[in-house]
Amino acid sequence: MMVEVESKEALIIEGQRKLEGVLKVSGAKNSALPKIVATILTDKEVILENVPDLLDVKTMHLLLEDIGAKVTNIDKNVFSYSLSNPKSLQANYDLVSRMRASILVLGPMVSRFGYGEVALPGGCLIGARPVDLHLKALESMGAKIKIEHGYIKAYAPKGLRGAHIFFDKITVTGTENIVMAAVLAKGRTVIENAALEPEIVDLCKMLKKMGADIEGEGTHRIVINGVDSLKGTNHRVIPDRIEAGTFAVLSALTEGNIVIENYPSEYLEYVDEVLEKIGIYLVKVGENRVTVKRDKVLRPVNIQTREYPLFPTDLQAQFMTLLCFVEGVSEVTENIFENRFMHVPELNRLGANIEIVGRTAIVRPVSKFSGADVRATDLRASAAMVIAGLVAEGETKIHNIYHLDRGYEHIDHKLMGIGAKVRRETVED
Ligand code: UD1
Repeated sequence: MMVEVESKEALIIEGQRKLEGVLKVSGAKNSALPKIVATILTDKEVILENVPDLLDVKTMHLLLEDIGAKVTNIDKNVFSYSLSNPKSLQANYDLVSRMRASILVLGPMVSRFGYGEVALPGGCLIGARPVDLHLKALESMGAKIKIEHGYIKAYAPKGLRGAHIFFDKITVTGTENIVMAAVLAKGRTVIENAALEPEIVDLCKMLKKMGADIEGEGTHRIVINGVDSLKGTNHRVIPDRIEAGTFAVLSALTEGNIVIENYPSEYLEYVDEVLEKIGIYLVKVGENRVTVKRDKVLRPVNIQTREYPLFPTDLQAQFMTLLCFVEGVSEVTENIFENRFMHVPELNRLGANIEIVGRTAIVRPVSKFSGADVRATDLRASAAMVIAGLVAEGETKIHNIYHLDRGYEHIDHKLMGIGAKVRRETVED
């Protein structure tokens, strides 16, 4: 399926319906993608459970199949992966341009096969998002990198060797790429200034089950001693903390009676604290289940997006929507990505009063949103549009919803399951 075809779909939401029922959090996109890629590292079968049914996962499956892997759907959200002999070591432009995380295959390919080729990701709507840190780290592990005809080509015919790597900037996929490259490299790799995200910690857990020698994951210093080969394993993808946070905001704003299942509180400590400051409380109502209680009048907060364990940039747009309905002025500063405020004009179309000053959005309160045509500008911005559509008066038509399908599993069905009135429509735009 081509992106252009999907971008013709719009999601139409009839706002202000009474919502009631259970919203189940799916497996995390950002945990599934690196784990699917990690299966490249072995010629044995790897089985992954709780793999979300998402466009980005499908793209990653196409990418693996292109390389020569066998990807089999053995049960609902369960896949088997095996790659004995690669037929190509190239991640082509069509697939990489759909999903930047495709760069993750470079480390494992060059580590196991001595060569890998990935199309340059190119510009991205939410900032330049370069991959220089991934490449610099691979170079220090002995890879020769060439950029030709729009492709990054990495050569290490005699294999990669361990190295001391210091990331100038904390990078999530950069850390994952280099951990995966290092597990089969000769000798010891030390990654300093590594990212701490739970998705990285769980990737390391899976790699260790496959026989990798890793220490320090979850700290800024990860030490990896290379091994000769890895074996197969069976692993479960962790719940999506961003989808869970999105559901918490949605529940608080729509004031329905919603239970969130699989809410991963252990990964959302900081986010839950911010919610409390606003006047929103998560109450445990059973094993892995929470519901959201709120003060009648919500309070403003200032939010700074930062690396884990602080406030995630991937929840910034959703929280900005929430802050439109508190009593007082809030400020939201985006420190991770430049140009990640594209949802602001769209929210303003619905009645929000948000002003951008440099990297900060000043959010002034409004009493209501009224439904309108809006555009989903990136994955998380589309989630903000969905929340906004659910609270707005009348109908909101979200164009370009392929972004939503990239990262939110069956979102329309989940919403219909709690009584929302949503439908998809093919639009000629
Ligand atoms: C990952 C997540 C994404 C999330 C982001 C930040 C996945 C698949 N995606 O993206 O959902 O929004 O973390 O939490 O897990 N940078 C460089 N050079 C590089 C690499 C990164 O300058 O080589 C910069 C980026 O432009 C950005 C910052 O570092 O400003 C952090 O980016 P990074 O953590 O790498 O984001 P991703 O891994 O792409």
